[in-house]
Amino acid sequence: RSANGQLQVRLQAAPGPMVLGGRQATALGYNGGIPGPTLRLFPGDVLRVELVNNLAQATNLHVHGLHVSPEGNGDNVFVSVNPGDAFSYGYKLPADHPPGVYWYHPHHHGMVADQIFAGLFGAIIVEDRKPIESALERVLLISDTTLDGQGNVAQVPMMERMMGRQGELLLVNGQSNPHFDARPGQRERWRIVNTCVARYLRLRLDGQQMQLLGMDSGRFPAPKTVKEVLLTPGNRADLLVTTSDGGSVLRALYQDRGSMPGMMGQMPGERGPADQPDGTALATLRVAGEPVPQLPTVPIQDVPEDLRSAAVAARRRIVLAAGMGTGMMRFTINGKEFQEARIDTRVASGSVEEWTLTNATPMDHPFHLHVWPMQIIEENGQSVDDAIWQDVVNVPANGRVKVRVAFKDFRGRSVYHCHILDHEDLGMMGSIEVT
Ligand code: C2O
Ligand code: CU
Ligand code: CU
Repeated sequence: RSANGQLQVRLQAAPGPMVLGGRQATALGYNGGIPGPTLRLFPGDVLRVELVNNLAQATNLHVHGLHVSPEGNGDNVFVSVNPGDAFSYGYKLPADHPPGVYWYHPHHHGMVADQIFAGLFGAIIVEDRKPIESALERVLLISDTTLDGQGNVAQVPMMERMMGRQGELLLVNGQSNPHFDARPGQRERWRIVNTCVARYLRLRLDGQQMQLLGMDSGRFPAPKTVKEVLLTPGNRADLLVTTSDGGSVLRALYQDRGSMPGMMGQMPGERGPADQPDGTALATLRVAGEPVPQLPTVPIQDVPEDLRSAAVAARRRIVLAAGMGTGMMRFTINGKEFQEARIDTRVASGSVEEWTLTNATPMDHPFHLHVWPMQIIEENGQSVDDAIWQDVVNVPANGRVKVRVAFKDFRGRSVYHCHILDHEDLGMMGSIEVT
């Protein structure tokens, strides 16, 4: 990053040999590794990425959660970078861009799940203006994948795609159960991204103090003490861990996200050790040595704007559904599968809208909207009080979630979709144009 606030990076997407979870594997990576490099920005910065495609298939790049203009090549769902080609992206973060944890991944419709499952993802950190004192930072990208006997990323059968694939290997930064060392009373900032294609992560770190600073681009006014954190695919947590002697294991506990009728044999709970009721060890924290002296208190954050009192310009219903088509399950939004040429939702810029997200299926769907952030107002008829800015919102099986969306700035075309990326690839995506 240069002094004038520009970060220039080259991301080369390519297959290659690497060690994944202790096994020799052939997977896809940015710049030769999993995850790709962490990009660090400040509000107001310009990010320039040259994406080089050395894959055998088309790809592109999406900056998940960043509040940047979708005009031109700002949102790349509609861009296709062919094998052997390169493409330059430019993003300008507004001066008031929320600090937090974001990430990048491919978004080429029909191939998103496969490319992320094979290893194409990386973190983006938008730094705080006032950093939290004496917090050691760890960026933890949690992913899952399945390797076949040769160490290649496994092909996923259609039945599992319909359910939302869950890989057999659960990895943190490409490793199985990495160990971290800390001193007692140390404050650590864990910035966690759920990059899994479909797996929900219910995280626990028993024996340590966990305080949630925020989720996605949202911040709580004061840190919230929590016992567990639920991250749907695409969600991020900004977590403060204050360590206690002895150490603990970060676990992903089994989370029931429902199933489709006729897919009972494919329940994610029956898929292997990663899905057992006591969960899977993701990482181990060892705490020993001299205690750290008293830590300064965490500064109070700016209270986010509360959209519950906003004037609502329009109300819409977004219905997530799945049904049997010709021999295959169809995943739809408002009855339609994604089509690039069609615009599904037209919004007037400068407004706040209220969207009722309705789930007409017996399985959960994490609803994601690009560019414009949302606040949850109501879940299954129950009002939600500590609304924060989010970009992936879980819509529970057969449930209903009311969100308000701030279309206050940025015009242009983008998309919303289910972040179980198999569902997105199978059609559960719609396009939006803000004018
Ligand atoms: Cu994380 Cu439209 O994607
Ligand atoms: Cu996104
Ligand atoms: Cu879905």
